Amino acid sequence: MAEIAVIGAGYVGLTTAACFSHLGHDVICADIDEARIAQLVRGEVPIVEAGLEALVREGLEGGRLRFVVGAANAAPSAEFAYLCVPTPQGDDGAADLAYIEAAAREIGPVLPSEAVVVNKSTVPVGSTRVVERVLGRDDVVVVSNPEFLREGSAVHDFLNPDRIVIGSDDQSAAVRVASLYIGVTAPIIVTDPPSAETIKYASNAFLAAKVSFVNALAAVCDAVGADVKDVVLGMGYDTRIGHEFLKPGPGFGGSCLPKDTRALVHIADSAGYSFDLLRGVITVNEDQFHRVAAKVREMAGGSLEGVRVAVWGLTFKARTDDTRESPALRIVSLLAEQGAEVQAYDPAVKGPIGGVVPANDPYSVCDGAQVLAVLTEWDDFRWLDFDKVAGLMETPRVVDARNLLDRPALERRGFRYVGIGR
Ligand SMILES: NC(=O)c1ccc[n+]([C@@H]2O[C@H](COP(=O)([O-])OP(=O)(O)OC[C@H]3O[C@@H](n4cnc5c(N)ncnc54)[C@H](O)[C@@H]3O)[C@@H](O)[C@H]2O)c1
Repeated sequence: MAEIAVIGAGYVGLTTAACFSHLGHDVICADIDEARIAQLVRGEVPIVEAGLEALVREGLEGGRLRFVVGAANAAPSAEFAYLCVPTPQGDDGAADLAYIEAAAREIGPVLPSEAVVVNKSTVPVGSTRVVERVLGRDDVVVVSNPEFLREGSAVHDFLNPDRIVIGSDDQSAAVRVASLYIGVTAPIIVTDPPSAETIKYASNAFLAAKVSFVNALAAVCDAVGADVKDVVLGMGYDTRIGHEFLKPGPGFGGSCLPKDTRALVHIADSAGYSFDLLRGVITVNEDQFHRVAAKVREMAGGSLEGVRVAVWGLTFKARTDDTRESPALRIVSLLAEQGAEVQAYDPAVKGPIGGVVPANDPYSVCDGAQVLAVLTEWDDFRWLDFDKVAGLMETPRVVDARNLLDRPALERRGFRYVGIGR
């Protein structure tokens, strides 16, 4: 079993740390956020992620997982140092490597000889070399090992990945990284660093393309009177197409797909290729926020001025508390710009965000509302008391941007219902 330092205790870092310790390794996880580390030391997990708290506690109790403030404090005995820090979008659309470089600068002087530094953050082609340069160590190898976990099922995805991708020009370092995943069954692809880095962006860009394709298709279905649910069901049985990720909704969001699609456009531009297909994916996604807001406006009778809109769902998807680049927040701000009075509820969002102060329950936001907009696919929403909702609303009208609710059941209760592409 190995000694692993994980730098960054966010969605990826904390999951990586907890899962590696679960696999039997000795893990020290570092963050610059002192409050977050203090919480983690007490066994409190600051993010909503199924199964994560149990693994953190297991690691703490078994003595295989520790938390420290500052990357330099995690690295002195590390055989492997995983970089799991943010790579936000810079002003020009490119990924900003400032956090990666800062982390590498901190661990460079203290890493033991023969350590392997692993980029798990999503980083553009060439970043392995950047980290090598910043570390300034001939005796330390840098390897790319991008992460593909989905928020909401991060622990499951880490321990049951579709594939493990390792990018290294040093075969023995690649084998050492692969051996950390002992107990995990998945195909392992060992390639060069630029290919590993590109696999991550290409995968996210392709997923984004699927979302925009199905949202554009939903617009066609709306226009021609087809039901997109049946259309994608019929498409999905073609094994070349498949059923996954072909669900219309309010657009893609979160901390990864938007920034990674824009970053790939930038990477391609810089290399002399104009990735117009991907630009189209981004444009369709922007349009989708406006299309959902327009559906709410139409439902309200053509104007949102002074209209009370109840919103269910603020996170970028269900089973997470992450609101970064959430389509729901974009739509809420479009509604507010047009004069709507938005009252919102989300089971995982408690504090004020995006100009709204979320309520504590889904019913109170419906009180006096003229339209209800369902923006996140929390399963709980399907099982609420819709007789009560209808009684509370001034006019029982729903825009279901996730095609989540039971349309016939709502219509029986007197609701007017509009979904996406159906
Ligand atoms: N969130 C996802 O679903 C996901 C999935 C796959 C890949 N990724 C990629 O993984 C990377 C991390 O994403 P995330 O969602 O975990 O980010 P995050 O913002 O949740 O967590 C990053 C953490 O790193 C800490 N940090 C920053 N600089 C540090 C330093 N010098 N030393 C120690 N800690 C430091 C921050 O305080 C923060 O807690 C990004 O590149 C992202 O694109 C994310």
